[in-house]
Parts: sequence; C-alpha cells; structure tokens
Amino acid sequence: MNALNVRQLFEKKFGNGYLVFRAPGRINLIGEHTDYNLGYVLPAAINKYIYLAIQPNETGTYHIHAADLREDASFDQEFRKNDLPGWARYPAGVIRELTGRGYQLKGFNAVFGGNIPSGAGLSSSAALEMAFALAINTMDKLELPPLELAKAGQQAEHHTVGVRCGIMDQFASVFGKTNQLIRLDCRNLNHTYYPFKSKDHTILLANTGVSHALAESAYNERRDQCEEGVRMLAREFSEVRSLRDVSPDMLRTVGKKLDPVILKRCEYVIEENERVIGACSALEKGDPDLTGEFMWSSHEGLRDKYEVSCKELDFLVDTARAISGVKGARMMGGGFGGCTINLLETRHVESFKEISSEKFFEQFKTRPEYYEVSIAEGAGILSE
Ligand code: GLA
Repeated sequence: MNALNVRQLFEKKFGNGYLVFRAPGRINLIGEHTDYNLGYVLPAAINKYIYLAIQPNETGTYHIHAADLREDASFDQEFRKNDLPGWARYPAGVIRELTGRGYQLKGFNAVFGGNIPSGAGLSSSAALEMAFALAINTMDKLELPPLELAKAGQQAEHHTVGVRCGIMDQFASVFGKTNQLIRLDCRNLNHTYYPFKSKDHTILLANTGVSHALAESAYNERRDQCEEGVRMLAREFSEVRSLRDVSPDMLRTVGKKLDPVILKRCEYVIEENERVIGACSALEKGDPDLTGEFMWSSHEGLRDKYEVSCKELDFLVDTARAISGVKGARMMGGGFGGCTINLLETRHVESFKEISSEKFFEQFKTRPEYYEVSIAEGAGILSE
C-alpha cells in the first residue's frame, strides 16, 4: 500500500480535508538488545513506510481504518485494551500516553497502510506509533520535540501493548537521516550520525518469513534476566545501575556468583556494546571487512549467549558466510524470526539472492524475501 492508495481510501471513507504523514521502519547495523541495557545501538530509518491520512473530528472518538488488514476500530479515551484488535493498541497506546501527560486531544478519523512487512523485525509497530504521535502533535498543536514522541511510543509499548522495549525503534523512526546511520547512546540519548553510502556496498535484508508467537514473552524474559544480573552486580559494585556500567573485568569478578544463564546474557550485552564502538570506528576508517567482522560476532553472541536466534536465521547467516562478496551478516531486531541484515559488495547482490534462496529452499521448502534498503529520512508530514 502506498501513500496514494491511503489517500484514495481516506477520501472514500471520510471525504476531504486531511493531512498525510509517513513514518519509516528501521534497520540496525549492530547493537542488539543493548538499548534497554542503556548501551549503544547503530540503527537507521529505511525507505519502507507507514502512511497515515488523518483529520480531526469533533466527536472525541478515534475512528481508524487499517487499510492493509481491511479492519476498522473505533474507540475513545476510556478504551479497554482487550476490546481492541492488536494493531489498534499502538495508536491507542500513544493516545493514552499523551493524555496521561495532561494534553487535551481531539478525536480523529484516520486511514493507514504501508509497505513495511510486519513481523520481520523492521519495526512496523514503532513506525505506526510515530506516524500517529507526529499527527497528533501537529493537529493538536502540542509542540512536543521528536524525542518526546519517541518516548511516548516506547511507553505505549510498555503500558498498552505489553512489550518492555527499548527506545531504538521509535528513535530511529523520528531521527533518521538520509544515508546516515545513527549511533545512539541509550544512557543519555546523545546521538551521532555516521555516513553510510557507497555504491560498492549494499545493505540487503533477507526475511526468513518466520515470526514466533513467543517472541514477546522471551523479549521480556531477557530484560528480566539482565535486570537480575544488574542487581547481583550492584551488590559488589555500588556504582552499577545498568549493564552499561559493567566492565568485562567486573563481570569476571562477580561471574562465579551469577547463575550461568544470567552470566551469558550479561556477557553478551557487554560484548555487544564493545562491538558497536568497534563497528563505528571501522566505519570511520571506511573498512567494510572490519565492520562485517563485528556483525558476524554479534550474530554468534545473539545465537549462543543471548539465545534469541532461530534455526532459519542461523541458516541464512551460515549460508551468507560462504557467498562471495559478503562482509558480514547477522540476525536483526528482537529475534526468533524476521530478517538477517547482510553487508555485501553490490556486484554480488544478485548471486547472493540466488544462492541463499536456493539453499534456504532445499532446507525449509520456502524462500526468503529480500529487500535492498536505502537509508532514509525520519518521520514527517507528506502533505496538507
Ligand atoms: C526490538 C525492540 C528494541 C530493541 C530490539 C533488539 O526491536 O523494540 O527496543 O530492544 O528489539 O535490539
């Protein structure tokens, strides 16, 4: 579904006099499960979007049509989340966060659709939240800065959706810049842009097509395990507030006292933070081989220590290792399915797709989808 389709549907359903917003999905080059541990991430917004056509109404009710799903939801500020279809909890959650901060919001009529595959780890849900947050910010003249919109989206996930996510996805969706990766320090939310554009190299995503129903509970469980690690470490080192404050030496000192599973989780997070820093300096040096090395080891950590990969993702990464021109590959996002991200020489893109698709088919009898993404601008208004 593109912006034009969304407009046409809106006009059919609600008539004229509306605004159109769009918010992008994201990739993450490296730095997985580090955001809620107050570490580093290196995401970017991509040229896949949620488009939202919207107009205020005077009824205090929110009427939303999900164009791709051909479903409707209507609710007001007193909604009960269990009465809403899953997708409507994202905009409803954003509304709840903003009204909770004391803002008076009007009702609205809205139609949204897009081209971010859902369940693929490309943050279609954060894009949906950011499209609505930006639209409400504009229509209700709240004048909230982008960071507050990102935070409202993240809190909507915690309180209304039930996933205790970090801030990476919402942040990337609003702070994205064309051809720039965002190095975000999730402790103080300072961010730096790293140029990423080279005709010689391509970022190619390979979608396993797998999305596990348990992903959300496993996500929250990982977060609990990290918090448990922090509690234990803080007994020994009072300055520790998050895994970001823990050095490899500190972890070695306390290691034996930790449950082995908790220890693995903590090791992964501490090492992944170091890999992000390493990848950033590799990018600065213009060294794709070294950048790729960090990606391979990130995948190993996610697979063996954080245990959020799955056989389809591992298969795609192992296959990528044997294909010419691939600098690095890893699973991307929360895990248990979705996409791998591959950094490879542009001249090898077609042969990569052929070989990896064939091998995946032999093994799983389905074929991955491939997306060559470009790094795009963050959420914004398309037209008035
Ligand atoms: C999901 C969450 C993010 C982040 C990633 C893993 O995308 O929404 O906050 O934790 O998983 O890196």
